[in-house]
Amino acid sequence: MTVASTPLLAVRGLVKRFPGVMASQGLDFEVRAGEVRCPLGQNGAGKSTLIKVLSGAHRPDEGEIRWQGEIAEFGNPTAAMRSGVAVLYQELDLVAGLSVADNVFLGHELSTMGFARRAEARRRIRALLDRLGHPDTPPDRDVGPFSVAHQQVVSMARALSLVGQLLIMDEPSAVLDADEVRVLFGVIRELPAQGVAVVYISLRMAEIREIGDRVTGRALENVFPPRVPETPEVLVVRGLAEGDRFSGVNLTVRRGEVVGLAGLVGADRSEILETVHGARKPTDGTVEVDSEQLRQRSVGTLLTRRPGSADERRWS
Ligand SMILES: Nc1ncnc2c1ncn2[C@@H]1O[C@H](COP(=O)(O)OP(=O)(O)O)[C@@H](O)[C@H]1O
Ligand SMILES: [Mg+2]
Repeated sequence: MTVASTPLLAVRGLVKRFPGVMASQGLDFEVRAGEVRCPLGQNGAGKSTLIKVLSGAHRPDEGEIRWQGEIAEFGNPTAAMRSGVAVLYQELDLVAGLSVADNVFLGHELSTMGFARRAEARRRIRALLDRLGHPDTPPDRDVGPFSVAHQQVVSMARALSLVGQLLIMDEPSAVLDADEVRVLFGVIRELPAQGVAVVYISLRMAEIREIGDRVTGRALENVFPPRVPETPEVLVVRGLAEGDRFSGVNLTVRRGEVVGLAGLVGADRSEILETVHGARKPTDGTVEVDSEQLRQRSVGTLLTRRPGSADERRWS
């Protein structure tokens, strides 16, 4: 296997900011034809954000992306696709109600109607499903009722049908069983020999080692700096308790964050928030807003110091 000298894709100083977080701070990353690269990073480090910037789904705030040495402006995923970049996103993106074949060839040149093309599309799709170890999947079946793993297989077929020079996969193995992962690895290993570059994201180190060792020695790479929260803590709840209802509730909300509170009906979510808000009296714990500890029923008092803020309108 020969690896080209000019990177197929090179990223320098890439930054993409979201409110409350800084994703992909000053990131450098490259991949050459025939390589498999596995950028590492903890959850929330910005791996999926990097993928979305590379595929044109997000615009970077800073930095440059070069495609075969030239500045690339993938304004949208279709533009990236035309350059031969196929992406398997972390979120399943199939359209329920459409068949396997329609999903695989959505937006594809083969989706154009016409007998010859449809026959060709069916032939290609069977070959892809075969390669992915699911030869029995009927191409005409609605993907809606498929299991998550089976949908992932269809998404992989779609990505493989689009792959030209680069295949990017964002945690494809997360929803697959061991056999399916083995088949997927078999498919991925064939690609470098055909000159295709692969960017493979996984949180499973064993997988990354397996792919890295067999394909290229430099697959392992720590590209993501540890995540640094950018914004201050606005709300800090520590050890909050109310009698027998709940105890030991800890919660931190930073400016710009949206924090969800999950629990079954009757799990006292509302009571917790009413206690945080000051409508109920806690039996233990503290609540701080902007580093200032609240006394009971004092949230409103603090918020009125910022008149007109969205927070105030929602909270008071
Ligand atoms: N569309 C978005 N809007 C706001 N914040 C986002 C968005 N997408 C990602 N983020 C934030 O950017 C950070 C990186 O996310 P992500 O790229 O999904 O990480 P990873 O894939 O490494 O787990 C996270 O803090 C996440 O909450
Ligand atoms: Mg991710």
